[in-house]
Amino acid sequence: MALGVPQRYLDLTDLATARGVEASKYQQGLGCFQMAIAGPDEDPVTLGVRSARRALASAGVSPDEIGMCVTGTETAVDHAKPVAAFLHGMLGLSPRCRVFEIKHACFGGTAGLLGAIEWIASGAARGRAALVVCTDIARYPLRSAGEPTQGAGAVALLVREKPRLVELEVGRSGSYARDVWDFWRPLHHKDALVDGPLSVQCYLDALSGAYRAFRVVDEEEDGEPLARTCYHVPYGKMARKAHRTRRGIDGLSEAEADATFRAEVEPSLGFSAQVGNVYTASLYMALASLLHSEAGGLEGRRVGLFSYGSGCAAEFFAGRVSAGAGAFARSLDLGAPLADRRRLTMDEYEALRQADPLADRRLASEEVRTNVAPAAGPRYLGIDAQERRVYRDV
Ligand code: HMG
Repeated sequence: MALGVPQRYLDLTDLATARGVEASKYQQGLGCFQMAIAGPDEDPVTLGVRSARRALASAGVSPDEIGMCVTGTETAVDHAKPVAAFLHGMLGLSPRCRVFEIKHACFGGTAGLLGAIEWIASGAARGRAALVVCTDIARYPLRSAGEPTQGAGAVALLVREKPRLVELEVGRSGSYARDVWDFWRPLHHKDALVDGPLSVQCYLDALSGAYRAFRVVDEEEDGEPLARTCYHVPYGKMARKAHRTRRGIDGLSEAEADATFRAEVEPSLGFSAQVGNVYTASLYMALASLLHSEAGGLEGRRVGLFSYGSGCAAEFFAGRVSAGAGAFARSLDLGAPLADRRRLTMDEYEALRQADPLADRRLASEEVRTNVAPAAGPRYLGIDAQERRVYRDV
């Protein structure tokens, strides 16, 4: 697996000062510290390609070995052409590859991943690997309650018959779905609309439903206890609420559940504290953070995974950390993309956000200047005369 993150971030102490809010509200109240902000030359395609190239290179997998390329995103760049098609071209994947995109709010990447493991387990993959890329930009209106919970980034997952990080358990999961209006983004909006308190409740209801369903299957299979659990992390505090709910179903009191939080969940929150919500990629950024901090110590042990997508759909499933995952995770250096980022001023942040609605109509010929040296990989330039998106791959 590998991350692709924007080159810029906003520190939430700066946002708190500007909004006249105590920094402790964001940091302790929400568990948010920094949020990644996409620049004018970054979009779900460029972030996704960055993560996928890194995943392929660090695993030593050639593009020819990929038989399925799926993107999970709720930040589509076109109503028809999927982000997966851009990736297929820029990564040089084989024409004999199944390529598509899935949307279901933050659940799209998980739907792709579950489809990929079932494709491999069925034998249809015939030895080939799947590339699942979760890529999103989380935006809420400026000065709204959701503003401190924004973020942007991608996580690429290579799925193969003999995984070197985590062996996911096929067919042993609990699903939950309900038609709710907790979070939505009408076709003409760049920013998401959300009923914040309802979204928190829907998330917790979905977790309860999916986890109870998982427990039924897992008990039938005599499943071992979960050593760690990664949750969908729209903001850090949500993982704490989730853990309390889940461990409550196991019979723990609130105080007992909180006492297990540090060991069972905290190591998975390091990356999201630096990036913010990345919608489809959020659960996998939590898994990356966990493996980055303690894959070696977890070899052979089970990790629970909870994916939530507003609207809503959820799944609780699990995987076992592979033998040798510690050394392999060290070689991947999963946190490296976070090292070289520029802290934005509030003025720069607001200017970038105000330019967002124009980005899809900007002409590539009027290339925008930025004061950040471009990262290796594709840059989004704008559109051409036929409104096709134009990228420069460097
Ligand atoms: P808010 O208005 O900041 O809520 O909105 P609040 O005023 O209740 O404060 C939040 C917490 O800060 C509270 O703690 C306060 O006590 C505490 P809690 O009761 O939650 O434990 N607090 C302080 N703590 C320390 N020092 C202080 C202080 N002041 C207050 N000085 C909300 C919060 C999450 C609703 C808002 O940020 C929002 O709408 N965010 C976007 C929606 C969201 O992330 N929902 C999460 C569940 S839905 C989901 O995960 C799906 C999603 O990823 C989308 C998808 O699926 O595509 C969003």
